[in-house]
Amino acid sequence: MQDFLIHPNLNINEQGHLTVSGQDCVELAARYGTPLYLLDEQLVRTNCRAYVQTMKECFPEGSMPLLASKALSFTGIYKIAASEGMGTDLVSAGELYTAKKAGFPLEKAFFHGNNKTDADIAFAMDSGVGYFVVDNLHELIAVNSEAVRRGIRQKILLRLTPGIDPHTHKAITTGTVDSKFGSVIENGQAEEITLQALSMDGIDLRGFHCHVGSQVFEIDPFVQAAEIMLRFIKKMQDTHGYAAEYCNLGGGFGARYLPCHPQPDYVSYIRALAAEVNRICDALLMPCPKILLEPGRSIVAAAGTTLYTAGSVKHTPNGKTYVSVDGGMPDNPRYALYESPYTAVNASRAQQETELLCSVVGRCCESGDILQENVRIAPVQRGDVIAVLTTGAYNYSMASNYNRLPRPALVILNGEQNRIGIRRETFEDLVRCDEN
Ligand SMILES: Cc1ncc(COP(=O)(O)O)c(C=O)c1O
Repeated sequence: MQDFLIHPNLNINEQGHLTVSGQDCVELAARYGTPLYLLDEQLVRTNCRAYVQTMKECFPEGSMPLLASKALSFTGIYKIAASEGMGTDLVSAGELYTAKKAGFPLEKAFFHGNNKTDADIAFAMDSGVGYFVVDNLHELIAVNSEAVRRGIRQKILLRLTPGIDPHTHKAITTGTVDSKFGSVIENGQAEEITLQALSMDGIDLRGFHCHVGSQVFEIDPFVQAAEIMLRFIKKMQDTHGYAAEYCNLGGGFGARYLPCHPQPDYVSYIRALAAEVNRICDALLMPCPKILLEPGRSIVAAAGTTLYTAGSVKHTPNGKTYVSVDGGMPDNPRYALYESPYTAVNASRAQQETELLCSVVGRCCESGDILQENVRIAPVQRGDVIAVLTTGAYNYSMASNYNRLPRPALVILNGEQNRIGIRRETFEDLVRCDEN
């Protein structure tokens, strides 16, 4: 059964080849070379619109989704996000530089990170980043000093730790309050840093941020986090007369990596979350602040597919089969890092029975260089195109040049108007920074 057609843009054509957004993967591999990242622009835009429009409908004016750059950062994605009315969340000066280069409206950028250097802070202020998301007291002091030196008041949100574990749904577990991110609400640290921020000349405190986790398919953890955040906001209002403008609930909605994962409906998730947020605000007798969300994976993961060319197929004495491809952990380190599940497909023989039980492995000198273990795909011959699905998030952005493999190209699929989003690295690129 071809249960690997896990996204609406996947199909099989008359040649028996896998298609993405109507385009034949075998032809794409021949035209652009492999390994190759594909990004379906229409699907990215559909996901952006689901967030932008639903948030407009359900939350107060000024509420907005911010593309989480860490999921995928290159100039093309910022152009798409900007044209769809998204803001962005940036974690480093490098992501900021990329957004700036793309002409992204930086007043809609939120600069994250738990350890911004003095150089990062200065660069972000020079660039006119709208908001800093300040992680801790040391950072608050550093941002304030630089702002005072420049004679400005920098708009910020404070990152808080609501103590939610999205995978157990249990509030306040030690692991989550001991996170490296943010200030803890539970023990008064968050209130203390809020008061500090309000007393500083260079700081314009606009609200609070939290992020509960990733690859979450239910809204319960988000509702729990929202309740803790909104109660905190209410307390700041009642106790200190401070009315927060923004409540940023972070990212985290899941993507479908395997046939057994649910097909997420982001419009329904946002509507359900909004209903709960409004209910909580009504119960607290306070107006709903502007809500921000920071979707990464849910915008780009399903829109991405990686194509490889199969090389050797090896059977071990104990019955294991390895299908080696011309990429691997340098273009997708996620199985090596945390055994992330992916669906692999023999795109050249997508109509055939998936009767080969194998591990799809890369070509690095490293036993851990595995893209996926124990998957069923159609029997492979050298030269077949192997597709790994749902690779739009945290693949290119986590890619490396391990074993001096050049990073693949990324092609933005858009019907007849495909364009190269990122060109393939050359060997010359690999030595560009080598000096001696
Ligand atoms: C602060 C913050 N915002 C947003 C995201 C994006 O999460 P996701 O890609 O799961 O939507 C992350 C992911 O780690 C995060 O740490």
